[in-house]
Amino acid sequence: MKSDASPILELRNVTTLFPTRRGDVRAVDAVNLALYPGQILGLVGESGCGKSTVLLSILGLIASPGRIDAGEILFDGRDLSKLPTSELRKIRGKEIAMIFQDPLSTLNPVFTVGEQIRESLRLHNMIGGGRLWPFDRARTAREKQRVLEVMAEVGIPAPEARYRAYPHQFSGGMQQRALIAIGLACNPKVLLADEPTTALDVTIQAQIVALMQRINREHGTGIILVTHDLGLAAEFCDHIAVMYAGRIVEIGRTDDVIERPQHPYTEGLLRCIPDIGRRRPIEPIMGNVPDLADLGPGCAFAPRCPVAQPICTHSFFRLQPVSGEESDAAAQRSGEVHMARCLRLTNYILPDASAQTNGGVP
Ligand SMILES: Nc1ncnc2c1ncn2[C@@H]1O[C@H](COP(=O)(O)OP(=O)(O)O)[C@@H](O)[C@H]1O
Ligand SMILES: [Mg+2]
Repeated sequence: MKSDASPILELRNVTTLFPTRRGDVRAVDAVNLALYPGQILGLVGESGCGKSTVLLSILGLIASPGRIDAGEILFDGRDLSKLPTSELRKIRGKEIAMIFQDPLSTLNPVFTVGEQIRESLRLHNMIGGGRLWPFDRARTAREKQRVLEVMAEVGIPAPEARYRAYPHQFSGGMQQRALIAIGLACNPKVLLADEPTTALDVTIQAQIVALMQRINREHGTGIILVTHDLGLAAEFCDHIAVMYAGRIVEIGRTDDVIERPQHPYTEGLLRCIPDIGRRRPIEPIMGNVPDLADLGPGCAFAPRCPVAQPICTHSFFRLQPVSGEESDAAAQRSGEVHMARCLRLTNYILPDASAQTNGGVP
């Protein structure tokens, strides 16, 4: 990372909550993240940790009564969390694209794949010149040309023939490629990928990951990869943020997080990754993700934590640099500085045990 570059996307203390009958669910709780141009950031955690809510918050897609309750989401100098929907629509799909886990439920079954990629270009008026309506043959031809280029780029064979095919005529891997093509059609600066390979076979999964890596290298597209698979994130990402119960519990460069994990949850996730060639029992993390409507004041992982101390259940721990040294906030958000949230950090100053919540403190 060049120190003179500024982040393309930055979340500062973002809290997103869903009011429920049993109280507010803070699905994202004072989250700080920064993505630099050309970087790949992995957001990892079990189901229900708030990963998708982070991505949906960035795009302003939190359905009411859910809301972004606090914080800033800075993109290109603007706070997306304060923009009206009309402005956000111009950014969604064009500057920040998102791809989802299940391509078939995202693709529209009644339009051909080619038409759906073209729609993305049209929506953002990417191919200028000529009337949009009434029908302009020359403009449509240029759009189609671009669609065929993008289809070829994402590795859809025989784009000319596939242009006219419907989503159900594509295999799962090809559907995901089509979805990535829709995302890429406008050459976005940021790609948000929510479990993009979870529904695919491992061989296809590897191809899709390789494709995203190539896009990242060739176009400098910044990527946030959401996955429950720490092994996948380790192969693919520059930095990894581990989320638990709506909070980041550890963040750092991939090597730091994988080789020197500081949070027992990260260690637990690492022990769940099978080791090819070495027969080692997989050790699952006991218990389940807690009910976010019913969190106590302490560390949310304490009930499952093998090294929890009595203090852990009633004290709030800050995310803090593992080295204990002062560092720049932007570097901390990006994961350049290894940070964790645990009593075990040796340089830890015991927090105020009477603090009931984090009060918006990361
Ligand atoms: N629309 C909603 N209403 C109420 N709670 C929600 C809603 N969406 C998500 N949540 C809650 O927020 C938490 C995080 O969800 P999510 O972001 O989907 O997690 P992940 O993507 O990590 O699996 C979960 O506990 C989930 O129940
Ligand atoms: Mg999710």
